[in-house]
Amino acid sequence: MNKQQTTRQPHPSLTGGAKGGSLITIAIDGHSSCGKSTMAKDLAREIGYIYIDSGAMYRCCTLFALEQGLISADGTIDEAALEARMSEIHVSFQLNAATGRPDTYLNGECVEQRIRTMEVSSHVSPIAALPFVRAAMTAQQQAMGREGGIVMDGRDIGTAVFPDAEMKVFVTASDEIRAQRRYDELVAKGQPADFDEVLANLRERDRIDSTRAVAPLRQADDAIVLDNSHMTIPEQKQWLLDLFHKKTHPSPSL
Ligand code: DC
Repeated sequence: MNKQQTTRQPHPSLTGGAKGGSLITIAIDGHSSCGKSTMAKDLAREIGYIYIDSGAMYRCCTLFALEQGLISADGTIDEAALEARMSEIHVSFQLNAATGRPDTYLNGECVEQRIRTMEVSSHVSPIAALPFVRAAMTAQQQAMGREGGIVMDGRDIGTAVFPDAEMKVFVTASDEIRAQRRYDELVAKGQPADFDEVLANLRERDRIDSTRAVAPLRQADDAIVLDNSHMTIPEQKQWLLDLFHKKTHPSPSL
């Protein structure tokens, strides 16, 4: 794993609190396409924390498997070959000065666009369900978050990657609203998209993600649920910031 390359510039008034002045760990989990990455990125930028999109890491593994011919036309994965080549997968993140957000790099090459295609989306859940893929990615995620000061989003961050995170949020929204958001995103990027296909894909991913044996998608017992079906992006951002302030500057009476 290359060293995470996004910069951390905490604003002094926004950090500290829960660990006696140190930086906290923020885990944001939830269903596919519920907008958690946007929320998490915005929060990290606002508070000067590192942002890690753990889904992008599973997408990189999937892109690698597709490009190396390890997934056949019927979707069968050559698990033995992928396991043997896991050490060839190096994921890193680098801040894109133009967007102010981190781009994903696979083995030194920017793959931010290529990991978001429908092809990758339709193969990523079975790849993410493989125990050896999860073990490798979880270890890398834990190394990235060792010092705190991190916002990580995914499916198992509050349950398996950082079970002791000081702030845990579980985001959800209705299936149709999530599919519409994903569809709009693909169209905006000029990628081919069909609403029904997008809806079926996200339902199928939710099903695989929540029923897999290792670290399934589920709400951590101590996570706070946010249904953002009817919230604007600025409202979601404010909600998260308010929660962050409560976690880092708790009222003395609480
Ligand atoms: O958030 P996303 O849609 O980019 O995630 C892509 C896939 O990776 C998704 O199907 C579930 C999986 N994933 C996971 O299993 N664990 C995570 N922590 C993040 C994503």
